[in-house]
Amino acid sequence: MISQPAQKYRRFDAIQLPDRQWPNVVLDKAPIWMSTDLRDGNQALIDPMSVDTKMRFFLALVDMGFKEIEVGFPSASETDFNFVRRLIEENRIPDDVTIEVLTQAREDLIARTVESLKGAKRAILHMYNPIAPAFREIVYRTDKAGVKEIAERGTRWVKEMTAKQPETEWFYQYSPETFSSAEIEFAKEVCDAVTAIWQPTPDHKMIINLPATVEMATPNTYADQVEWMHRHLNNRDSIILSVHPHNDRGTAVAAAELAVMAGADRVEGCLFGNGERTGNVDLITLAMNLYSQGIHPGVDFTQMDQIRQLFEETTQLPVHPRHPYAGELVFTAFSGSHQDAIKKGLAVQKADDYWQVPYLPIDPADVNRSYDAVVRVNSQSGKGGVSFLLQQHAGFELPRRLQIEFSKVVQKVSDSSGREINADNIATLFDKEYVQVNSPYQYMGSHIVDEESHQVLSHVVVKYQQQRIELKGQGNGPLDAVAKAISEHIGETVTVADYHEHGMSAGSDATAVSYVEVKVGEHATVFGVGQDQNITTSAIKALLNGVNRFINGTNPEIVENVAAG
Ligand code: KIV
Ligand code: ZN
Repeated sequence: MISQPAQKYRRFDAIQLPDRQWPNVVLDKAPIWMSTDLRDGNQALIDPMSVDTKMRFFLALVDMGFKEIEVGFPSASETDFNFVRRLIEENRIPDDVTIEVLTQAREDLIARTVESLKGAKRAILHMYNPIAPAFREIVYRTDKAGVKEIAERGTRWVKEMTAKQPETEWFYQYSPETFSSAEIEFAKEVCDAVTAIWQPTPDHKMIINLPATVEMATPNTYADQVEWMHRHLNNRDSIILSVHPHNDRGTAVAAAELAVMAGADRVEGCLFGNGERTGNVDLITLAMNLYSQGIHPGVDFTQMDQIRQLFEETTQLPVHPRHPYAGELVFTAFSGSHQDAIKKGLAVQKADDYWQVPYLPIDPADVNRSYDAVVRVNSQSGKGGVSFLLQQHAGFELPRRLQIEFSKVVQKVSDSSGREINADNIATLFDKEYVQVNSPYQYMGSHIVDEESHQVLSHVVVKYQQQRIELKGQGNGPLDAVAKAISEHIGETVTVADYHEHGMSAGSDATAVSYVEVKVGEHATVFGVGQDQNITTSAIKALLNGVNRFINGTNPEIVENVAAG
């Protein structure tokens, strides 16, 4: 980069439109969409699509609900010519879909283009010619009158040649190419001249398309240009005003949205923003932005993952994992505070209420994404994410303090590996750490006797140092009785500081899960978790597991006592 960019680059001269109306417009309906994936998008590929690939993409676009599809540039490419022929001859175009083809304003090219469409029920013939100063001066070495004449002459040829194929219902689209950098009054002059020749009517409109062939300025500037044209074009009631934003400054989506606010009726773009250089405007983001505001876009991206796969296979281009609404990671939270908020939001979100889950602009289920992908755990994650995955994946509903305790266990593992931990690993870790802690006491069986005096006698058989022993105790309830029995065995008071339980799964496989927070002497509490078909047994197992964890992990003295028997 140079130190004085002003010596090399000029600021874009915005047009004057002090009474602009677009900032006050609220979008309340979708524009007409035109997918140019098979033309502009295809022209930008390293390996352009074959006829078969184009057919696959076309049928997918139809399935998504696109009603206008630019299918190629038949005068420039034999593949495109053949593809248009196949679409027509194999009767692949649904009655409510109109195909569009592009041509330059040359007689032979228009003739070849019209020929490609022979037999089509309906078609949009799209002619363009560059009109901006750089093109006039450098590329065509002509003046304003010269480029205007190209547009007029081309339109006359289109009119004459299409009239000779009356079996097709023809629509005409004209693009003053490089509109974004052309003098605005001149753009209007050329478009008016073209309109005067074509003579559209309110019942049979023509399309005037205003391409930001190269995105030159901030989106508000493009919106001003579009509003100016919207207000000044002749025969506005006979024109469908279309925009075609490219993304050179990375603001094509905003430019398209503001352009529609400024009066555009139609938007041309590509899926995932494919297209020359930095691409055309991304139709998926545009449509989903509307959807997230409660406006149905009229196209359907429910099968987002399949659409992404189709796109990647047909274009050989990867979709960025953070691509809005569609990327692999866009509904995923790694950070602990985000996970916590999402988990709480999902828990209270009701199916028939407005969507209000923190950090998720739309419900991932609307684009067929499961909630599994919403929360992923790495060293940045906290208790919310860990317990959410454990609940989704293994059905455990941890009490809050256990969530905190277990998330530290998970964090330690992910910190030392430096990697993400998936739901399977989290469930295994939980099982090992809290449920299958079979030493020094391994549960083998129990017998609980409820005495009339409201005292309970417990007989718990455990495997201890390779031997089968019986722990006997008496207490206010089964857990209290077992705690007393263990207290006696380890020589320290064991009490139950907290207890939670819930059922898991339905039918004959139903089990109970118990979470016991155990306090041994004056030491900090530890958790144990038990699972069994019998609720009392699951509680006893949880207590033993808590004691085992305490002995194994925290207190060498007790370990010695226990070892001494
Ligand atoms: O970007 C552009 O100007 C074009 C035209 C052909 C409409 O693609
Ligand atoms: Zn383009």
